[in-house]
Amino acid sequence: MKLRARRKGESATDGKSLDGKSLDGKARAEETDDDPAEEVLPEAVAGDQQSIATANDSRSVLGRGAEVPPVRVTGLGVQIKDGDSRKWIVRNLSFSARAGEVVGLAGPSGSGKTTVLMCLAGVAHHAEGEVHVAGKGRLPGQLSPPSELRKVGIVFQDYHLVQALNALDNVSLPLRLDGTRWKRAAPEAIHLLAWFGLSRSVFKYPSQLSGGEQQRVAIARAMVRQPAVLLADEPTAHLDATSTRLVAESLHELALYGTCVIVSSHDPRLLSRFEHVVDLGRR
Ligand SMILES: Nc1ncnc2c1ncn2[C@@H]1O[C@H](COP(=O)(O)OP(=O)(O)O)[C@@H](O)[C@H]1O
Ligand SMILES: [Mg+2]
Repeated sequence: MKLRARRKGESATDGKSLDGKSLDGKARAEETDDDPAEEVLPEAVAGDQQSIATANDSRSVLGRGAEVPPVRVTGLGVQIKDGDSRKWIVRNLSFSARAGEVVGLAGPSGSGKTTVLMCLAGVAHHAEGEVHVAGKGRLPGQLSPPSELRKVGIVFQDYHLVQALNALDNVSLPLRLDGTRWKRAAPEAIHLLAWFGLSRSVFKYPSQLSGGEQQRVAIARAMVRQPAVLLADEPTAHLDATSTRLVAESLHELALYGTCVIVSSHDPRLLSRFEHVVDLGRR
């Protein structure tokens, strides 16, 4: 993951949250603490600091206007079985999301947010329209082949971390399942955890972490294979205001590095931070 390692005392928002307010003392302390991960694998962390190319750099070369949006949904319709008949859950939904953009998917419970995200992920069928994600188009009835699934990272409301594994092992897991050797996977995971301000939690188990920390571990795990698109399904539903702010900042920071981020939520605290919101409840 080519994220620029933060200098000590620096958050990507330079000490400010996205709404311009300073991070509170607790969050700040976490950002500025000494980094035990650097003691564990100093070469890996230092190496990443030197080999940084941000997506903003690459965008300026490619020209943002010429980009094909990594997510494009046209006339999406999804049906479910309802007894002997079928019922539309989502109908005639169209939107697109650019690389480097965070798009909110809003709507009350039951409005189809999870359904739309699962269609984008390629693990649920749609009945109408076209879904283009990370360069591949899918017609009704088609799911993504396994090779395509890695282009998409998914974050769930309930984190879904493996309780028996520490943060480092949770984040390394997708790489290890891909056959990546521990020697390569561990530095990647440690770098991401450090980037999310979790250096002190590398060896902690999920039960030893707060909800916000667990969610940031889950986001790091979703990002470790460098997906073009990150889908987050109500990622702050169980979080307090401070953790919500930190998770929202993390999602925005990932977008700054070129990831296309789609976040479902009915939380106005979160949705108010997104410039582009697709409202499933008001169409
Ligand atoms: N596999 C399914 N079988 C039956 N009903 C479903 C299924 N998936 C979703 N639904 C229904 O579709 C609607 C939208 O669900 P969902 O996408 O989970 O909404 P949201 O995430 O906005 O709460 C709900 O009424 C839900 O009960
Ligand atoms: Mg849902």
